[in-house]
Amino acid sequence: MPSTTFVSSPAFTIQPLSPELSQKSLIGAEVIINPGVPQVLSVENLAPEDVSVLRQALYDYSVLVIRRQNGIEPTTLPQLAAIWDDKMIATHSAGKQPISDPKNILSRTVALRTRKCDAVSIIGNGHFENYEGIPSVDLLHVEHSEFHAHPLTEEEIADGQTRFYRWHMDMPCYQTLPGKVTLIHGIVIPDRPRQKIVFENGGGLPVDAGATAFVSGARAFSLLTPEEQEFALNTMVNYAPRPYEWIRNCKATSDGITIAKVGNERALDELPEWTEEHVQAHPMVWRNPGRPDQPHLQILGNCVRSLVTTDPATGAKTVIDDLAETRKICRSLQKKTMAPEYIYAHAWEQGDLVIFHNQGVLHSITGQLGDTKRLMWQCTMASAAPPEAFRPVK
Ligand SMILES: [Fe+2]
Repeated sequence: MPSTTFVSSPAFTIQPLSPELSQKSLIGAEVIINPGVPQVLSVENLAPEDVSVLRQALYDYSVLVIRRQNGIEPTTLPQLAAIWDDKMIATHSAGKQPISDPKNILSRTVALRTRKCDAVSIIGNGHFENYEGIPSVDLLHVEHSEFHAHPLTEEEIADGQTRFYRWHMDMPCYQTLPGKVTLIHGIVIPDRPRQKIVFENGGGLPVDAGATAFVSGARAFSLLTPEEQEFALNTMVNYAPRPYEWIRNCKATSDGITIAKVGNERALDELPEWTEEHVQAHPMVWRNPGRPDQPHLQILGNCVRSLVTTDPATGAKTVIDDLAETRKICRSLQKKTMAPEYIYAHAWEQGDLVIFHNQGVLHSITGQLGDTKRLMWQCTMASAAPPEAFRPVK
């Protein structure tokens, strides 16, 4: 973590989250809007110094929380996203048009965008009428029980337990490159009893119901042994063609990191049309543009198909294409952050705008929201620039 001296600009003061909240996660700062300046963000009100302080704060703290942003314009979200991406493409990374498909975990819920800005998705839970010119909509908060191979029992749920639904970066993983940042704005937030996540080693993390959980890729890298770090730095991750279609019949491990067992993937020739040129491979370790000394372990475990690792001494490449082995390796590297002290779980308050470094953290939905109502905006823009390797992989 950088020093706790607060950084400020004309509009902002960056205040790291309390140690009780951020623990050992390396994550989290609140962006306080200074007195005397408009309290709801608008990009035209920002001075160059405000923009550079905000930009660096995200690279330093990975997740920024800005309170009381009720009334922010949807168009402000992609304008803010552009602060971190000079190669931003003017569409949501999930596509210009939203897609609903109950069998695809990426588009499982009803797909809606705001009328004022089609780069902003509407997500949440429950029935809404006459929202932003939309006569009637039923939103659905996805739950682990639909996606995990061994979901919590009814007794465990009654006891207040929940799970990490799916650790991921916002990344279609085919054709379109992921956004540098994601922004989520909480508009209607239900009041629900807290829940808890129980870890395999017995530890527990109390979370607000529906909290968004984050782990830092930098923390994940720091927990690896020197040999694992070297392996990760020398490895490229090959993702499946149209990976969310590929895994549409698959179920996840109980930690939400990867797919539980091999065998339910769809055959590649049964996927919707795809071409090799759009299939993606990314380094396993990504560079943080504002902290170039800080490697981030960034693997989208559900979508991984194979690994290629290079021996730096000889240049010899080893392909690991046994799917079970590939997933086991990736999970073992990522599993080290699965402890309460390495996770920041954001407890949503009405009006929050959370901006996170999509290429520096993994995040996950948690919680069962029952029949309560929640409404949020989400924006993550496609980029023309791929994630950068921390160290070029030969
Ligand atoms: Fe996401």
